[in-house]
Amino acid sequence: MKANLVLLPGDGIGPEIVAQAKRVLEVIAARFDHEFEYSSHLIGGIAIDQCGDPLPQETIDACKQSDAILLGAVGGPKWDDPSAKTRPEAGLLKIRKELGLFANLRPIKLFDELIDASPLRRDIIEGTDILFFRELTGGIYFGESGRSGSGDTESAYQMMVYSVPEVERIVRLAAKAAKQRDNRLTSVDKANVLEPSRLWRSVAARVMKEEFPEVQYDVVLVDSMAMHLINRPRDFDVVVTGNMFGDILTDEASMLPGSLGMLPSASLGDGGPGLYEPIHGSAPDIAGKGLANPLATILATAMLMRHSLGLNTEAETIEWAVSAVLADGLRTADIARGGDAISTEAMGDAVVAQLTV
Ligand code: NAD
Ligand code: IPM
Ligand code: MN
Repeated sequence: MKANLVLLPGDGIGPEIVAQAKRVLEVIAARFDHEFEYSSHLIGGIAIDQCGDPLPQETIDACKQSDAILLGAVGGPKWDDPSAKTRPEAGLLKIRKELGLFANLRPIKLFDELIDASPLRRDIIEGTDILFFRELTGGIYFGESGRSGSGDTESAYQMMVYSVPEVERIVRLAAKAAKQRDNRLTSVDKANVLEPSRLWRSVAARVMKEEFPEVQYDVVLVDSMAMHLINRPRDFDVVVTGNMFGDILTDEASMLPGSLGMLPSASLGDGGPGLYEPIHGSAPDIAGKGLANPLATILATAMLMRHSLGLNTEAETIEWAVSAVLADGLRTADIARGGDAISTEAMGDAVVAQLTV
């Protein structure tokens, strides 16, 4: 198969982890006889530095013409000035919106080999397998915002808005995924306080009753979910939630597999290229030191194979290679937890070696 892949390394550890993921794509292409073409483009802080824009038009055009996009991470202290005209993160939000990527799939899957890398007890986390559907192009992230007044009386606001079609489409996708899995869907909201959550809850209930009566469905308030997630994670199969709740709950959920550096994601719309990225950020505290775990990004390439290219065997082969290096005891510092650790590049070497035997 021929595929045109766009790489958006971004900032901080972004270029280091995307470099290792690209090696995995190259070795997969050679092994399965595919022709992948790569082009790298600017996004985030580096794009602000070079073009004054966190998402140059050239990057948008390249993404729209591609078959799939692999992104590292954006942001960092260099661009954190609160009075700056724009920020790296604005580039990421804009590419999601421009490509209509409303569904962010974040699988929380535990590798058996890593159970003891989690700060949580084995008997609590063993067997956990959750698939989050985070709504990605609406909610508070994209609501009207502004400031008024000045000095001591200045105020700021950001609106949370959800519409019926926005809720329907993400709930439908999540329910379809539940049918392929353990047939259970949990919707997470804050309907006891927030109006958009009350709309979300009623629309989700209607979609489930009318279109998916066979799927076991329940609702949980987001604060309570934050607790249940680490107390009884096995009880959840597919979880659907809004943009900000999904962002927060999945960083929390990364402690189940043991590290943010292990969690990939896929951002999908109605056809068109998907965008694949780790759920973590640019990790400025470890950038440039060769300490970053590249496995989340490597696992994102498996999601890319599966969801954008329909290459299931290739996806499973990448996931198998990751389990094999973990079974060999290889760990970057985040999952070594004080034990022997290898570098970002050595972890890339190990995955590539598994794929070339
Ligand atoms: P972060 O996810 O970058 O880092 C949180 C912690 O996890 C840090 O201690 C970091 O070292 C560690 N970590 C993250 N990824 C790791 C990996 N692959 N291997 C080992 N350790 C890893 O979150 P933050 O520090 O709050 O944010 C830093 C910057 O990243 C901010 O500018 C933020 O806006 C941005 N960010 C970007 C994305 C994205 O591009 N998708 C996601 C989250 C945060
Ligand atoms: C993520 C990040 C982004 C988000 C930021 C950097 C815009 O935290 O992808 O999880 O909040 O969506
Ligand atoms: Mn996040």
